[in-house]
Amino acid sequence: MAKKRITPEQLRSQRWYKGISLSSFTHRSRSKQMGYSADEFHDKPAIAIINTWSDINQCHQHFKYRIDDVKRGVWQAGGFPVELPAMSLSEPFVKPSTMLYRNMLAMEAEELLRSHPIDGAVLMGGCDKTTPALLMAAASMNIPAIYLPAGPMLRGNYRSQFLGSGTDSWRFWDELRAGTITEEEWYEAEDGIARSPGHCMTMGTASTMTSAAEALGMTLPGAASIPAADSNHARMSASCGKRIVDMVWEDMCPKNLITVKSLENAITTVMALGGSTNAAIHLLAIGHRLGLGIGLEKFDELSRITPVLADIQPSGKFLMEDFYYSGGLRGLLNRIKELLHTDALTVNGKTLGENIEGAKVYNDEVIRCRENPMSKEGGLVVLKGNLCPDGAVIKHTAADPKFHQHTGPAVVFESHPDLLKRIDDPDLKVTPESVIVMKNAGPVGGPGMPEWGMLPIPKKLLQAGVRDIVRISDARMSGTSYGTCVLHVAPESFIGGNLALVENGDLITLDIFGRSLNMEVSEKELADRRAEWKPPKPHYLRGYGWMYSQHIQQADKGCDFDFLQSTDPIPEPELHH
Ligand code: FES
Repeated sequence: MAKKRITPEQLRSQRWYKGISLSSFTHRSRSKQMGYSADEFHDKPAIAIINTWSDINQCHQHFKYRIDDVKRGVWQAGGFPVELPAMSLSEPFVKPSTMLYRNMLAMEAEELLRSHPIDGAVLMGGCDKTTPALLMAAASMNIPAIYLPAGPMLRGNYRSQFLGSGTDSWRFWDELRAGTITEEEWYEAEDGIARSPGHCMTMGTASTMTSAAEALGMTLPGAASIPAADSNHARMSASCGKRIVDMVWEDMCPKNLITVKSLENAITTVMALGGSTNAAIHLLAIGHRLGLGIGLEKFDELSRITPVLADIQPSGKFLMEDFYYSGGLRGLLNRIKELLHTDALTVNGKTLGENIEGAKVYNDEVIRCRENPMSKEGGLVVLKGNLCPDGAVIKHTAADPKFHQHTGPAVVFESHPDLLKRIDDPDLKVTPESVIVMKNAGPVGGPGMPEWGMLPIPKKLLQAGVRDIVRISDARMSGTSYGTCVLHVAPESFIGGNLALVENGDLITLDIFGRSLNMEVSEKELADRRAEWKPPKPHYLRGYGWMYSQHIQQADKGCDFDFLQSTDPIPEPELHH
């Protein structure tokens, strides 16, 4: 039995329901209008289930049914479940980029919780931006909350080969452009690559961030690795519903769980997984919401001491389904436990160390031993230099090692449309040693920092057998992508960062060992170019896009809105009509 620390009278929801007043009369009578009796909502923790299901979010299709499992758990534990739908942010369908709307979902979820009679929340997400958005909301609202990850989809299937989300799409696309596969084969791959509910099953942003959520202590143990289609996922959903009710009585809030230690655990986990570079943005944003003071340099510091143990695409060869059968995240974390703060508290009231105690690995090929890692260092390097004074990142484990130290002449594209127009031009002056630079794809310039960072390899190089080349932009990259792609250059070019000043032929040096990215252009020449530089026209003059452009921060700050990165209190809503 959970140890109760708060009483029914102290429940936030009871402000709406208790007493003799016109407003409590209204709240009770309107709940009864929905068929509930007073004993179902009186003195019971009201649990919001923030559901990011929609008809156009393929990764969350099973949430339509899982919601019933969560409610079952809430009822069993003596709570009152309240489903609250929220923006679903389907990664492939939302344009120009889901990143433009991550903060909007974070604001929506926070205000849904604030404005309703809610005591605790189960947060249902998984498709890329939904996990960070819901965790950001939970951090700011700070009522008891538990995260329920959607779980990865099953392995893709093509002619008896496994296919990975994103990763194999890019690969097939390159082969189609190079003329090495037929259109018929292309369509056949389309039929088999995504064949169940669940988020991308490679180590993309979704698998990275749901695993980070578990390491942060915001999920029940083992939740992040369960495939969406597995019946264990339904049982995990019911367990979340049960547990959140006790968390309300225990008054266990995100601020008790998301700390410097748990954030460091999340970063270490991302490194050991060879996770998505997007984690560097999202975890910074979550930390800044709570004023935890963790910066980009922490990612590099922990990357240097954390081996990559997960052999999962795009850095490796297996998929999340294999990872689950091999012991999942608990198995992996147990292998790196001395790199973790095992005393960090988690939603089940136990420490991370207790949750991973005794967790086994059943397949050393999928989850490598410490003696046989995929890479001795973590999968993310932070670069600094005159091209990125506030930082840039590269997933060097997904890059051809011959480019880890490389100097080459820039081939510059002023924007993504410019790149699409000219990249396959047979007259493009490009060689395998060139460094492709794309501008104006950052948080403001994209707009929304789209995942364009895996810039396409020029067709003439593809046809000559080239499959990697150095690429630089202020964009992000899908976690399912691969190649020598420098990303998140800050400050971005659209607002006058030095990336805006690069010209064709400038020599650029990438040094992953030295953590640097520089263009060999003198200070005087850069100053002259800056004097000539004119800012591009703004994308938005009104609406959400305008507000976004005014308040979005750069990648090294997590791309949150400046007015959300504060711990200043927000008053509880006034209840009288
Ligand atoms: Fe939803 Fe990849 S499309 S996680």
